[in-house]
Amino acid sequence: MTSTSLVTAVNDLVEEFAVSDKVLNDSVNYFVEQSVHGLAETADSSARGLPMIPTFVTSVPTGEEKGTFLAVDLGGTNFRVCSLKLNGDSTYDMVQDKAPIPQELMVGNCSDFFGHLADRIQQFLETHHSETISCAFEEEGAGKPVLFKMGFTFSFPVDQTALNRGKLIRWTKGFDIKDAVGKDICLELQNAIDARNLPVHVAALVNDTVGTLMSRAYTKPSDGRTLIGCIFGTGTNGAYSERIKKIPKFDAQAHPEVTEKIMVINTEWGSFDNDLKVIPNTRFDKQVNENTPNKGFHMFEKRISGMFLGELLRLVLTELQSKKLLFTSGSGNGKLSVAWSADSSVPALIDGDSSSDLSLAGNTIKEAFGYETTLEERKQIQRVARAIGKRSGYLSAIPLAGLIIHTKALEKFDKIDIGADGSVVEFYPHFQEYIHDALRKTVIGDDEKRVAIGIAKDGSGVGAALCALVA
Ligand code: BGC
Repeated sequence: MTSTSLVTAVNDLVEEFAVSDKVLNDSVNYFVEQSVHGLAETADSSARGLPMIPTFVTSVPTGEEKGTFLAVDLGGTNFRVCSLKLNGDSTYDMVQDKAPIPQELMVGNCSDFFGHLADRIQQFLETHHSETISCAFEEEGAGKPVLFKMGFTFSFPVDQTALNRGKLIRWTKGFDIKDAVGKDICLELQNAIDARNLPVHVAALVNDTVGTLMSRAYTKPSDGRTLIGCIFGTGTNGAYSERIKKIPKFDAQAHPEVTEKIMVINTEWGSFDNDLKVIPNTRFDKQVNENTPNKGFHMFEKRISGMFLGELLRLVLTELQSKKLLFTSGSGNGKLSVAWSADSSVPALIDGDSSSDLSLAGNTIKEAFGYETTLEERKQIQRVARAIGKRSGYLSAIPLAGLIIHTKALEKFDKIDIGADGSVVEFYPHFQEYIHDALRKTVIGDDEKRVAIGIAKDGSGVGAALCALVA
């Protein structure tokens, strides 16, 4: 039997995690206001507003691009090296190697970290390109022949000063290599590559959302205009193209090489509303923030993305246990009291269990925290997991609606396409449904039907290659 007090406590929690229409609409309005503001204001490490970073990418692909490129991708827990052949007909061939980044390097020092990345590039070239290296790109007149042009997908906030130059503003998603902050990330990688005498030129620095936008436009899976590339994975962020005359902080005269009329903007929307003027702030959100290295920043991301959903669930369950409403017998495996012990697959699997006895949810809880549960307890835990996931989906609609309104896209195009990537949007139960529901509750209303969200695979590989091509 579940105690009525557990049900009552969960009722309150579900209410606390609900996003009201007012919060949704106030947040969309604030996002539109903040994007205009961010386009005018330089994003350095002390700025708290929406960064809105000009990326120096000035065109979106047509699908006819051709060539072979290297791409490396550093975004969350893995480092991926790939070579891509763009066939010029919206298709591509890719070879890739992927490996987790050793935890100690994620919080170590800059030179060990970039040395490790260059070692991985070297291994990849030795494995996959020892024969073909000579057929790749050659640049005449340079000191040493540059064989491969490489796109570097680096999915952290960077103040970009050229297509292949940019200083790290701050780390997110648990990385904390202190002496890398403020350094030019491309130069660091290029130096490590040169120290190993590898024939690789880092031609473009690409945020994963920019890569997603580019690859979605290249592969053209839908008939709508691709407006936004976004990630809902370990972290969250989005990119879109803006008219240069609407970016007051971009000094076009200082960059005569930029002759196009548009530029892709990396919004870094994970940092939306760092001052918590409109987004929800429960006691659980406060605890999550306290436990992160980037305290007070990326506050929007901390309510939405995969890195935080399991932790939010863990904190709620800990509170229910401390009130003696749950896990009152047995001692568990100790992980309930360990911060970050549950990743987003824990709430996702609990939420997604549709069996009558919620056995999958039960096994997931047992595996994550070591406790046996009754069916009634599992039902209540599932309600909590669902409330956390639903809030994440609803909040995710805010920047999408904000950018659709800001760009007046619904007035310009019949259909709008949004390319999305990341474990949360791909696997979290009902996530896309929640985004659509929430979009409908904004001023977009029924026009939400004209907005299609599609999974854009390989954004950080294909997109980086496409950026290396324009370099
Ligand atoms: C980073 C962004 C990135 C996003 C998704 C965020 O934490 O700041 O640069 O695009 O994660 O990977």
